[in-house]
Amino acid sequence: MDRIRIVGGHPLIGSLTIGGAKNAALPLMIASLLTRETLTLHNVPRLSDVRQLLRIIGNHGVDAAIGGKRLGQSEDQGDSITLSARDIVDTTAPYELVSRMRASFWVIAPLLARMGEARVSLPGGCAIGTRPVDLLLMALEALGADIEIENGYVVARAPDGLRGGHIVFPKVTVGGTHTALMAAVLARGDTVIDGAAREPEVVDLADCLIKMGAKITGAGTSRIEVEGVGQLGGAHHTVLPDRIETGTYAMAVAMTGGDVLLEGARADLLQSALDVLAKTGTDILADDQGIRIRRQTGAIMPIDVATAPFPGFPTDLQAQFMALMTRAQGTSHIRETIFENRFMHVQELARLGAQIRLDGDTAIVEGRNRLKGAPVMATDLRASVSLVIAGLAAEGETTVHRVYHLDRGFEALEKKLARCGAEIERLSSDG
Ligand code: EPZ
Repeated sequence: MDRIRIVGGHPLIGSLTIGGAKNAALPLMIASLLTRETLTLHNVPRLSDVRQLLRIIGNHGVDAAIGGKRLGQSEDQGDSITLSARDIVDTTAPYELVSRMRASFWVIAPLLARMGEARVSLPGGCAIGTRPVDLLLMALEALGADIEIENGYVVARAPDGLRGGHIVFPKVTVGGTHTALMAAVLARGDTVIDGAAREPEVVDLADCLIKMGAKITGAGTSRIEVEGVGQLGGAHHTVLPDRIETGTYAMAVAMTGGDVLLEGARADLLQSALDVLAKTGTDILADDQGIRIRRQTGAIMPIDVATAPFPGFPTDLQAQFMALMTRAQGTSHIRETIFENRFMHVQELARLGAQIRLDGDTAIVEGRNRLKGAPVMATDLRASVSLVIAGLAAEGETTVHRVYHLDRGFEALEKKLARCGAEIERLSSDG
């Protein structure tokens, strides 16, 4: 298995390009199942999760083609992918595929909406918590689906098609909102989704569905209204920039010091995280080109943070912010309110010399000036990248194992950082 070797202590200086958002690309790809016509997605990041989802939707009958390079196109621009689900050949999503990526469970909505039935494996546990799907199923039931659990599979049926209804989410769920939207667009009649997630990735999905002919208003607010249509057509859509990749590199620069332009990043997608970062003593300048992050030699100020649904501080940046706080001048409290077990990075950051104590859903981080390199590994994507950014600031050598977690969500991580002056390289298993 590949490893990433980092020699810490170099400031990051230069510019790097922010790619398309993984968590927008995945539901957009799934939306291709809703139509017989071709959906073309631009700026799709080159990630292992994208490749895995292509396999999964391919199993249902989606023909996918990844466009070649175009004249004048930089290698930092994502792929253009055409997806055509002319015929759905299989409405079952098997355990072997779904268990490898939770988001693939969302295929249940377009399969059910278009074919009147779907059989999708329950995704099972995952490293950051139990992550049930009860709210997703509740949403489908509100649209008239009959749901049964058989041998570890959710079997959803609506032989006469789905019908509009009122969905009320008692808790904000991104996947639940994606599922409800994809089911409601082809349902007969009107649907109201209350308690909807307001995340930018939900808005991106709604924008694409609207281009495909769906009638949706209110995406980006907690009430979304959908008027069902008989069928959807093809469309072209460009995936929005990745706010988590943006925030991760912003925190890396805050941690090492330096001056980096995050090209293509959009401040409105992560304003709360940028506000927190500014309070730590980091300069942030946003314009049409992207976001410039700069920290000179001054101290990193400790700031307390609690994760929250959008527009709050994202749970997907909690681990990276914790890495930054290990070098703050004082104590900070980081509260995780979305997932009950998202602190696996704490043990590994401790291996680099961090002092972090857990008290229920809160991590108490005693800032200190020095971290020292060590071999580390993590069990999920965002935890892994927090170790990379801690390694960039640690003295000496850090080796991050289980790089496949990083490849799920960060395209060309080591290349982008190396271009900004980091001493970082990927070592292949036999290297
Ligand atoms: C999405 O996961 C993201 N994944 C996650 O990013 C992200 O952390 C999360 O939203 C929150 O922002 C993708 O977009 C692919 P939720 P999702 O449903 O949709 C509970 C990453 O690293 N819940 O919003 O699965 C759930 O347990 C990943 O890129 C129920 O109780 O998250 C959690 O506590 C990790 N019942 C809360 O809601 C349900 O039926 C929010 O989860 C569904 C969810």
